[in-house]
Amino acid sequence: MDSDRTPNEGATLTWGVKQSFRAYVEGSGGVIEVGEGARRAADGEFVFASAPGAGLRLNADGKPEGAGRFLGEVRCQAHGGMLDVFLADPGVEVGPAGAAVTVADSRTRDRRVELALLDLAAAKVGDEGEIVIPAKLSKDGWRILGDHYLPSTPLDPLRLKLRPS
Ligand code: HEM
Repeated sequence: MDSDRTPNEGATLTWGVKQSFRAYVEGSGGVIEVGEGARRAADGEFVFASAPGAGLRLNADGKPEGAGRFLGEVRCQAHGGMLDVFLADPGVEVGPAGAAVTVADSRTRDRRVELALLDLAAAKVGDEGEIVIPAKLSKDGWRILGDHYLPSTPLDPLRLKLRPS
């Protein structure tokens, strides 16, 4: 089979966004809720299902190519609602200039923001055959995470399964 054309049905994106942020929200009496297709893994990371027709595929080097959308939303609230972070439907986009994660920043999903930049050159294969890609906050990503982290702050690595196991 031509691996460039591997269908993406059953793909998942597992991404905790930022472990210290999750720990902070939940440790300060706040809540993290998921829905619309996202769930939480045992370690607290978020698992997003692939959107129909997602166009990510593995190239001959085993690196992702193209652009794929995943489904689900994450809502974080703490400090009586002063901390209110929402992100939904992450997209992984690989282009000539690099790779990035975009998210919708509101329930209406009428705007997408680039949240993270990915280091595909440093991607590795994980224990379950998934692709593990280091991520850092993009220059606009601070808007999403409550205006607290500087651009290039390390985020959790993405774990991408492009084929059902
Ligand atoms: C009553 C108001 C607040 C108090 C008392 C407070 C207190 C703190 C403290 C003590 C830390 C350091 C935690 C640590 O290093 O373990 C921290 C970190 C942080 N705070 Fe707040 N904070 C407040 C409001 C907010 C709000 C409104 C936001 C966002 C809009 C926010 C976002 C953050 C973030 C993102 C961190 C960094 C977490 C990390 O990655 O370690 N905080 N805050």
